[in-house]
Amino acid sequence: MKKLTIAIDGHASTGKSSIAKELAVSLGYTYINSGSMYRAVTLYAVENNLMDLIDNNIDQFINLLNNNKIHFKFNKNLISEIFLNDRNIENEIKSLKVSQKVSVVAAIPKIRKEMVKLQRNIDRNKGIVMDGRDIGSVVFPDADLKLFLTASPEVRAKRRYNEMVDSGEKVEFHEVLENITYRDNLDSTRKDSPLIIQKDAVVIDNSFLSIEDQLLKISSLIKEKLNN
Ligand code: DC
Repeated sequence: MKKLTIAIDGHASTGKSSIAKELAVSLGYTYINSGSMYRAVTLYAVENNLMDLIDNNIDQFINLLNNNKIHFKFNKNLISEIFLNDRNIENEIKSLKVSQKVSVVAAIPKIRKEMVKLQRNIDRNKGIVMDGRDIGSVVFPDADLKLFLTASPEVRAKRRYNEMVDSGEKVEFHEVLENITYRDNLDSTRKDSPLIIQKDAVVIDNSFLSIEDQLLKISSLIKEKLNN
């Protein structure tokens, strides 16, 4: 059977990863969260006090970064989890400390170039669902199906706030909302690979849609692509 490349882009906290995971598991495809790669770089920079080096000497930072391995391993539910060398950093990368810096790190062209290289090296033969901001525009412009997810900032902030509280992080709702609007702005206005809606993308505003509603809609799009 034909194996598709599915690109899911969209605003922060639109549930891209949940949808991408569900789709990948149901299709038996590889799931890759590209945002977690930018978060891994940010975690590395924050933990090693290298944020200033990013500003002052990006080449030296890239050299240091390249001594480390950012990669994915599959857990027992066949979901990929991100590792920095031998360390599973799935939880650390979601902290507010990382979220507050990641858009600045992700806007740096030399860092993007490294991440896009890693993303394009991932085997697509088994089918892939990758989510991010530039997957349909830059990483896989030839993707078979491009989705663009969006929702109102308040709905997205509420979802993110609930997730953070559930994982034990102490945050205020207004901080989360501010972080989301700040990231939307940086992601959409940066010079290199800004978040844009591709002409051939299907836009889904999920402010009032359940995951099941979205999966139904997307499954019928996938069926069409498989039958073409
Ligand atoms: O999807 P996320 O919120 O975990 O992404 C973290 C940051 O990385 C966000 O500011 C956007 C950026 N990002 C990007 O620039 N390109 C991608 N392909 C994925 C994420």
